[in-house]
Amino acid sequence: MTSSNVPVIAIDGPTASGKGTVAQRVSERLGFHYLDSGALYRLTALSALRHGTPLHDEHALAKLAAGLNCSFVSDSIYLAHEDVADAIRAEEVGNAASRIATLPQVRHSLVGLQLGFCKGPGLVADGRDMGTVIFPNAVLKVFLTASPEARAERRYKQLIGKGFSATIRDLLKDLQERDARDANRSVSPLKPAEGAHILDTSDMTVDQAVSQVLAWYAEIRKRT
Ligand code: CDP
Repeated sequence: MTSSNVPVIAIDGPTASGKGTVAQRVSERLGFHYLDSGALYRLTALSALRHGTPLHDEHALAKLAAGLNCSFVSDSIYLAHEDVADAIRAEEVGNAASRIATLPQVRHSLVGLQLGFCKGPGLVADGRDMGTVIFPNAVLKVFLTASPEARAERRYKQLIGKGFSATIRDLLKDLQERDARDANRSVSPLKPAEGAHILDTSDMTVDQAVSQVLAWYAEIRKRT
């Protein structure tokens, strides 16, 4: 199977919209591979913070991104031989990721790595530009969103569950800043892809969101 006929489901959306959880569950239900593209930006950010690379040094950051030695094994994410799955979820790392994601050379360095996830029997990819830039031929494109308040509460629960301290007020401010950065950057800004299904999950459970995405995919399969 060549990558061009591998079915891709692209799930994009703003920070803390729950797209990661939904995308992962959809991939499990379909037996597809899963790409958490945000993790690649977070891994680059973590490397930069550890190396003391300035977050405005585009050339050095692009080199770091191009040389990322990472692997995804079930719930673990390895940077070299260290499992950093929890470390990359820290707000400091997320903020740095959001900053370096505005840099064209960094984005460019991560393209090949992302395309490498596209293998049979299929891929569910989550991020900001999966349906617009990385996988424009995705068979299904979903723009998954939720109100800022619902997202701040979800992020709060996620961080507290991982043992990080946080307040909903700070998180709300943080995510509004991140939304603005994602939507206003010149390269690959966050916006629904053409033909994307918009899914507002503010009042939905994860199971309901997963069922909706699977129903859309089943409809597409029936037609093709
Ligand atoms: O968890 P959250 O949704 O905040 O972030 P993430 O999906 O883990 O991604 C971390 C950061 O990388 C985001 O703040 C985005 O700015 C950036 N990103 C991106 O620019 N393009 C992607 N395809 C994925 C993430």
